[in-house]
Parts: sequence; structure tokens; C-alpha cells
Amino acid sequence: MGPFELKSARYLAADHLARVIREGDAVADATAGNGHDTCFLAELAGAAGRVYAFDIQASAIESTAERLAESGLSSRVTLLNTGHEHMAEHIREPLRAVMFNLGWLPGGNKQITTQWETTRRALEQALSLLMPLGVCTVCVYPGHASGEEERQRLTEYLASLRPQEYNVLHEKFLNAGAFAPECFVIQRME
Ligand SMILES: C[S@@+](CC[C@H](N)C(=O)[O-])C[C@H]1O[C@@H](n2cnc3c(N)ncnc32)[C@H](O)[C@@H]1O
Repeated sequence: MGPFELKSARYLAADHLARVIREGDAVADATAGNGHDTCFLAELAGAAGRVYAFDIQASAIESTAERLAESGLSSRVTLLNTGHEHMAEHIREPLRAVMFNLGWLPGGNKQITTQWETTRRALEQALSLLMPLGVCTVCVYPGHASGEEERQRLTEYLASLRPQEYNVLHEKFLNAGAFAPECFVIQRME
């Protein structure tokens, strides 16, 4: 990564993850989309690492597979064309990090977007899979109705986590309008 720039929720999430993920780690991308985040995680996890990447859209999994192949990263990634709410069925090892980038696939069908009920189930599993001091990031996009619902419910849910178990940080740009994307960072303490 280049010089630090305070420019977007996704950038903030990536900055936190880059400080936490080490070579050889197991991590998950809960929303693979076009594969940018999966490639980013695969670079950080290194040749000995493992990235589990989920998406419900076959086209997203295909785009991610192409992007990984172009970067020579395919062997580090397990691609799963299934909902992230099934994460615990597919991952049998502790994770250093999990990345959620909610919303719809950029350039894709805006009807196919993450929904709070499945996001909540996935988050519960992700937080249980984290190793102590592991980190989960969630970027949320309140500019559309289901994104606003996710933002509200996510805020309530994360605020209710026991501080003995998880620390939760909420980052938002105060001068970018009410619909600006927001970033949540959760660290498992024990
Ligand atoms: C904002 S995009 C992700 C962008 C991606 N991380 C990237 O780097 O290009 C959100 C993605 O979440 C996916 N999605 C929606 N519901 C899902 C679910 N239940 N499980 C996994 N992925 C889901 C969508 O298909 C979409 O591709």
C-alpha cells in the first residue's frame, strides 16, 4: 500500500487488515464480488496462507477467479459459490481476519445485494471463527434502503457485543453526507 490517505471506508478496512494479517494466515473474504479484496487478502496471506472467498453470484466467483489467475494467486484461494451465512460449514480453522464489503456487485445487478438477516448470521460465524486478536472489518453502504437497514441493525448488533470478548470501532466520514459508506472494525479479545 502507498501513503496513508483518508479516502474511503473500504480503504480504511484494508488499512486495518494490512496491519493484522501475516504470511501464512487463514482469512476470509465474505463478499468476493469482482475479486479486488480477495486478491488483496491473498497477497497479505502469502504463498503459505489460505483465503476462503464467498459469493452467491456465479459471475462474481468467475470474475474473482480470473483476477486471481492474472495475478498468479489462484492456489492460495478457496472460492465458494455459496452464501457467507454458510461460512462455518466450510471453514475448519481459526481465522486471523474476515472482510465484509456489503451491498451489490459493482457493475452488476443491484437487486442482488446483501441482506441484514444473512449478514447477521455470517457475522456471528465470522466472529466465532476469529482467533484471539483476529480482526473482522465490515463496510456498509447506507445510500440505498437495504444498506441503510444493514447500517442500523449492524450498529445495534455490534454495540451489544460483550467488551470482554470483542472491541468494536465505528469509522465514518463526518463531512461526506449521511449516505457515505461506513467502516466497522471488530477485534476478538479472548
Ligand atoms: C460490494 S460487493 C463486494 C465487492 C468485492 N469485495 C470486490 O472487491 O470487488 C458485494 C457482493 O456481495 C455478494 N453477496 C450478496 N449476498 C451474499 C451472501 N449472502 N453471501 C455472499 N456474498 C453475497 C454480492 O453478490 C456482491 O458480489
